[in-house]
Parts: sequence; C-alpha cells; structure tokens
Amino acid sequence: MSYPVHRHRRLRNTSALRSVVREHRLTVQDLIYPIFVTAGEGIQHEIPSMPGVYHFSLDRLEQEIKEVTELGIEAVLLFGVPDHKDEIGTSAFAADGIVQQATRKIKELAPDCLVIADTCLCQYTTHGHCGVVESCGHGHAIIVNDASLDLLVKTAVSQAEAGADIIAPSNMMDGFVHAIREGLDQAGYAHIPIMSYAVKYASAYYGPFRDAAHSAPQFGDRKTYQMDPANSREAMREARSDAEEGADILMVKPGLSYMDVVRQLRDEFDLPIAVYNVSAEYSMVKAAAEKGWIQEEAIVMETLLSFKRAGADLILTYHAKDAARWLQTGR
Ligand code: PBG
Ligand code: ZN
Repeated sequence: MSYPVHRHRRLRNTSALRSVVREHRLTVQDLIYPIFVTAGEGIQHEIPSMPGVYHFSLDRLEQEIKEVTELGIEAVLLFGVPDHKDEIGTSAFAADGIVQQATRKIKELAPDCLVIADTCLCQYTTHGHCGVVESCGHGHAIIVNDASLDLLVKTAVSQAEAGADIIAPSNMMDGFVHAIREGLDQAGYAHIPIMSYAVKYASAYYGPFRDAAHSAPQFGDRKTYQMDPANSREAMREARSDAEEGADILMVKPGLSYMDVVRQLRDEFDLPIAVYNVSAEYSMVKAAAEKGWIQEEAIVMETLLSFKRAGADLILTYHAKDAARWLQTGR
C-alpha cells in the first residue's frame, strides 16, 4: 500500500458525493423566528442595531405572519414591548397584555403557526430585572426568587389562556419550571409544553435585544440569576433540575460561544435541545455584511448548520426568514 493510506478526499470529489455522505442538514423546520410585538398602532419600526428585525404593533402583524408561514417557518417566539411598566411587571400577566393579544391574533391568522411565548418580567418592570426586586438596605437590592415565581406562573397561565402553544420561561429563577408546570396543570393546561431557557448565561451578547425590548436592567446586572460564562458543569446542574421539574425542551443561550454546552446537553439528555442564536450574534453578522467584509448567506448557513452539528434540534434565530429563503433557492 502506498502513502497516503487514508484518502479522505475520495468522498469530497463531487457535489453528489458530498451530499450522500453529509451528516447534518439544516431544514426550515429547525428554525424558530423571534418577533417583537409592541403596544400602539401603525408601528413597524426597524430596530437600529438589528437590521431586518422590526417592532410590530398588532395591526401590522398580519403581513409578517403571512411571510413567516409562507416561508415554511412553523414557529415564532413572541416578545412583548408594553406601554406600561411597574415594579412587578403587571402587564406581563394582563389578560389583554401585548403578548396575550398578539398570541390570539396570530392563532386567528394562522392557526397552525406554533406560538411560543417568552415568559419573563424584564420588559414589564420599571427596574428591568427579570424578577421581584427587594431593597435590603445599604443601597443594595436583591432579586427575590420565590416571590418572582408567582408572577411568572400568572404570566405563563395568561399566555396559555390566550392560546400559546409553548411556554418558554427565561427568567432563571430557581424552580421556575416546577412552579409553571404546576400552575399550568392546575389551570387546565397540562397539555402545554414548557421550553425552558435552562442554561442561560449572563452574556454581553444580549445587548441589541435589550435595546430592542427596552429591557436593560436599570441598576446592577443579571449575574445573580443568569449563569457565569465560565461554567459548564453548572450548566448540567441547571439542565438536570429543569428536566426533573418537567421541562419538555431544554434551551442553551447564547449559541455561538456555548456550542460545547449544546453538545454536552445533547449527550446527557434525551429531551429536544434548542439553541438561541442571540441578538449580538445576529448584529455582528449584519454589520460585517453591510461593510462587505463577509458573505452573509454563506456565513449564516454555516453557523446554523453548526448548531445542528453541535446537537441542537431547534434553532431560535433572527436569521430564520433569510435562511428559509436561502433554503428554498437550494444550495
Ligand atoms: C430576557 C431575555 C433576554 C433575551 C431573551 N429574553 C435578554 C436578557 O436576559 O436580558 C435575549 C435575546 C437576545 O439577545 O436575542 N429574559
Ligand atoms: Zn427577563
């Protein structure tokens, strides 16, 4: 036998050969598209730091939902931008809250479109934290765990009442999956699945989102409830407790810097794994593409495929509509 012994290139010779040995594929069914719905009328404003992503008021949602469903995207994730904020985020769980109204509207417009409701308080609280804030003197404030759970449960139940197909709690309080599961079950929504933001890091990659959702914390940061980017064993503890509490889908967030965590969850759990390709990951690509420094389509498709290879079943991404188009034109 002559050198080289291993001729890996044999299987790369033609497009058809590469295709038949391809291990992972991206399909439009993998994609979930986040949508920002805002109070008001006639609003369709592009978010400056997220080109191509808009705030929509309820009366402008129809066209967007039509586009999304025609592209074959089966699920959307709803974030609300309310016109009223208070200490405890009351409008997060109002029957006529912005996400609740948008949910009803979308289920009317497109009954088969899966509506995933993000369940958190930060867009709805004056202080911008994801839970109840309590002052403990000396100018210090803490985010109270158990008191926040009640508000989250109310929010989840009101979203289910509005017709949400999946509840996606993102606030990182301990025990939120258990509390929400119990609340949904008691309210008659035992059939509604929970997609838990199980492993959510305290990340700088959320910056553009916080501008978009007006949800930046007004003091301090989220490091007492979101995870330290240095930790991956802790990610397993977070995921395990959520699985034990009844989570139906486990999410890792952000995506790109945390592919190793996606892989670890994939290997350890048999639940579906979702990954959130977050706002700054999107904005960086858009900015570089605008400058002509990268090929946007190739970069995006490579990134999304890499999430599949890392073990993700579902990908939440602002690129979803573009990717769906690119999948159609066949690469
Ligand atoms: C808040 C929330 C955040 C995102 C989704 N829900 C950010 C945060 O913790 O401040 C981030 C999404 C993104 O950056 O695309 N619960
Ligand atoms: Zn939050």
